Amino acid sequence: MEERIVSGESTELDEQLELSLRPQTLDSYIGQQKVKENLRIFIEAAKMREESLDHALLFGPPGLGKTTLAAVIAHEMGVNIRMTSGPAIERPGDLAAILSSLEPGDVLFIDEIHRLPRAIEEVLYPAMEDFCLDIVVGKGPTARSIRLDLPPFTLVGATTRSGALSAPLRDRFGVLLRLDYYDEPSLAEIVKRSADLFGVAVHDQAANELARRSRGTPRIANRLLKRVRDYAQVLGDGEITVSLCQTALELLQVDPLGLDHIDRKLIEGMIERFRGGPVGLDTISASIGEESMTIEEMYEPYLMQIGFIQRTPRGRMVTALAYTHFGYAYPAET
Ligand SMILES: Nc1ncnc2c1ncn2[C@@H]1O[C@H](COP(=O)(O)OP(=O)(O)OP(=O)(O)O)[C@@H](O)[C@H]1O
Ligand SMILES: [Mg+2]
Repeated sequence: MEERIVSGESTELDEQLELSLRPQTLDSYIGQQKVKENLRIFIEAAKMREESLDHALLFGPPGLGKTTLAAVIAHEMGVNIRMTSGPAIERPGDLAAILSSLEPGDVLFIDEIHRLPRAIEEVLYPAMEDFCLDIVVGKGPTARSIRLDLPPFTLVGATTRSGALSAPLRDRFGVLLRLDYYDEPSLAEIVKRSADLFGVAVHDQAANELARRSRGTPRIANRLLKRVRDYAQVLGDGEITVSLCQTALELLQVDPLGLDHIDRKLIEGMIERFRGGPVGLDTISASIGEESMTIEEMYEPYLMQIGFIQRTPRGRMVTALAYTHFGYAYPAET
């Protein structure tokens, strides 16, 4: 798959960048008001009872701050965080080793938890419910199961696909937190905060312009800011102005709504070959040569969010908004 500057997915470059930009407290975590309000209460209550926080599941599209929020939770609880991911835990023993090394109250963060192997999930159930591990020792007829007590801990799971999580696993989370795309004022605030940390001046209007083109996603906002800063250094005097943003983003081929050539390819394909739909996902996939899952998980969500594509029982449809944005005349009702 091609690299997209407007992809919410993380790249190696982002990882270095993000370490320095991650907020550590709920107060410096921008936006997501509802999620924060709930968390504040749960954290306060757990602290008052001197208990570990309930297991929490964070879900939402890539780059919205799930990993960041997990670290914030640990920080606010005053405990350590241990980070791993679904695909990294291959055998039950791997998970047992991690669990038994936790200290009371610690946060265990499992990223991409929907990719946890089934056999491991089963080890996780008693650990989540009763803070214990059932381990089988020995082999064949002498094999027996022993129960190990674990310190109380908080499992924080993150997933971009909550639908892919097994029901028994999902049911064991006491707290479900859904992260939504950020609004423009929140993204502008994130841009300003990051610019501060970079030590670069960004004009208010420029921050708004970056916010508008970041597809509701902090990771993209930070990435665009970083690129625009380079342009500001080379083409300007280092300050990020709105006109510099516009020039830079045009060169980067990110349009005023944050759309790129892939969004254009998808929408134009639907308009030109299927009269804007309704058309089934598999048909679109065959026609533009991209996998259905890629379209469904990576391309479509933001286009739906901004009302460019609609899902109907008969398939996907391009809306009038998208026709106008890409310079097509919306067909009259027939
Ligand atoms: N609420 C926020 N306030 C400020 N910055 C944020 C916020 N949320 C995310 N960020 C920034 O965006 C970057 C990406 O966030 P993060 O890595 O937590 O996303 P994610 O949801 O875990 O993504 P993925 O699905 O790829 O794992 C962070 O490094 C951080 O700098
Ligand atoms: Mg993450």
